[in-house]
Amino acid sequence: MGNLQRLLKESWTLVEEQQDKVAGYFYARIFLSNPHLRHLFPVTMDVQRARLLGAIVTAVQSLDDPDRFEEYLRQLGRDHRKFHVEPEHYDVVGGALLEALRTFAGESWSIEYDQAWGDAYNVIAKKMISGAEADTNPAFWHAEVLTHERRSRDIAVMTCRPLQYPLEYRAGQYVSVEAPRYQPRLWRTYSMANAPNKEGTIEFHVRALGAGWVSSALVRRVQVGDLLRIAAPMGTMTLDRKSTRDVVCVAGGTGLAPIKALIEELTRYNRTRWVHVFFGAKDRDDLYDLPELNKLAARYPWLSVVPACSEDRNFVGEQGNIGEVLARYGPWGDHDFFVSGSSSMVKSTLRTLAELKVPAVRIKYDTFGDI
Ligand SMILES: Cc1cc2nc3c(=O)[nH]c(=O)nc-3n(C[C@H](O)[C@H](O)[C@H](O)COP(=O)(O)OP(=O)(O)OC[C@H]3O[C@@H](n4cnc5c(N)ncnc54)[C@H](O)[C@@H]3O)c2cc1C
Ligand code: HEM
Repeated sequence: MGNLQRLLKESWTLVEEQQDKVAGYFYARIFLSNPHLRHLFPVTMDVQRARLLGAIVTAVQSLDDPDRFEEYLRQLGRDHRKFHVEPEHYDVVGGALLEALRTFAGESWSIEYDQAWGDAYNVIAKKMISGAEADTNPAFWHAEVLTHERRSRDIAVMTCRPLQYPLEYRAGQYVSVEAPRYQPRLWRTYSMANAPNKEGTIEFHVRALGAGWVSSALVRRVQVGDLLRIAAPMGTMTLDRKSTRDVVCVAGGTGLAPIKALIEELTRYNRTRWVHVFFGAKDRDDLYDLPELNKLAARYPWLSVVPACSEDRNFVGEQGNIGEVLARYGPWGDHDFFVSGSSSMVKSTLRTLAELKVPAVRIKYDTFGDI
């Protein structure tokens, strides 16, 4: 661990146990000095309270090598235009962050810590600002919901079409989505489930989480004709057209969405690469898109699909977590891997791939949560 990383981690332990208070102070500083910034944030702040602060702390602490995260930070800055964030807001937020840390760390705080947080924040902010400035697209697109279909208890598949300008993206990427009619100012990321097409339609697969604000609205309340807002595409889980290696896709639940988009892109040009899809879910009901996958596999001889259930003894097929199932097949020494699903699913699959000695450079993944 470098010196900067050590200072950041060490100083965070001074306030870690008082995170709620730090967050309360942080937002109060921002809104008292700049009341006009309040309207950028969700209407109800208590449940959401830790979202921005938590995100900044994670970014500052985990980006030990900001250059490695250059593209992610540029995309994040571009994406922040959807919140109406302007370059001058970064100083306000950075100042509030340092004030909050100083206040709650008390006497143990030092100039060295101050410098470390200030430096790390500024490097990140600079990359985000330059990403935002370089973007010539609108901050977000209005998109009309064209179809909305419930596929299981908690899962909906919907399509929509951006109204003003086409939204250019690559299969495997994701976007932030807001359903302003139901949950204004709450944005969550969802992966496009189709490759870009001439009609400009975009498909999403969404699972409603128990207490989930946006996912429940998208699954249970959104109707055909509603308008959504969609921000700039992000993510690097895309196909390398030059690679000649065979492909393994591992999807958990609605993590299938970007994998479906990748398969669709492959149907347009692939003749030579075998593509193996492992699709896992808790039970049969959650294998919501299996009939579609089976149809594709029947049509394209290079595609094979292995479904699996981890908690459904009556399912006729593979049993167990999708990572375990994958390990029963193989060998996988010379394949390109794409992994998509909840953070626990992605983590356990990455562990299995490490045990199978798959080189990390061959694995692309986006997780539905922190990793
Ligand atoms: C890159 C990326 C791509 C994504 N793509 C998709 C997609 O295609 N389809 C899709 O359905 N989702 C996808 N997600 C997840 C999505 O962004 C939201 O996190 C999810 O829909 C929950 O949002 P919410 O507002 O409903 O829940 P929130 O209101 O944010 O959270 C409500 C409660 O649920 C808990 N919770 C949040 N996330 C999870 C989780 N994953 N598992 C269990 N509990 C959780 C929280 O701790 C909280 O208690 C993706 C996430 C990322 C980061
Ligand atoms: C180093 C600087 C910053 C980093 C790393 C950062 C990162 C993030 C991340 C990862 C999220 C959650 C993802 C999302 O909802 O899209 C988020 C949310 C948000 N950010 Fe930033 N951000 C930074 C600076 C700013 C600034 C300067 C503003 C302007 C005031 C801002 C406003 C917001 C808002 C309004 C949210 C949504 C909050 C919520 O839903 O509760 N961010 N940020």
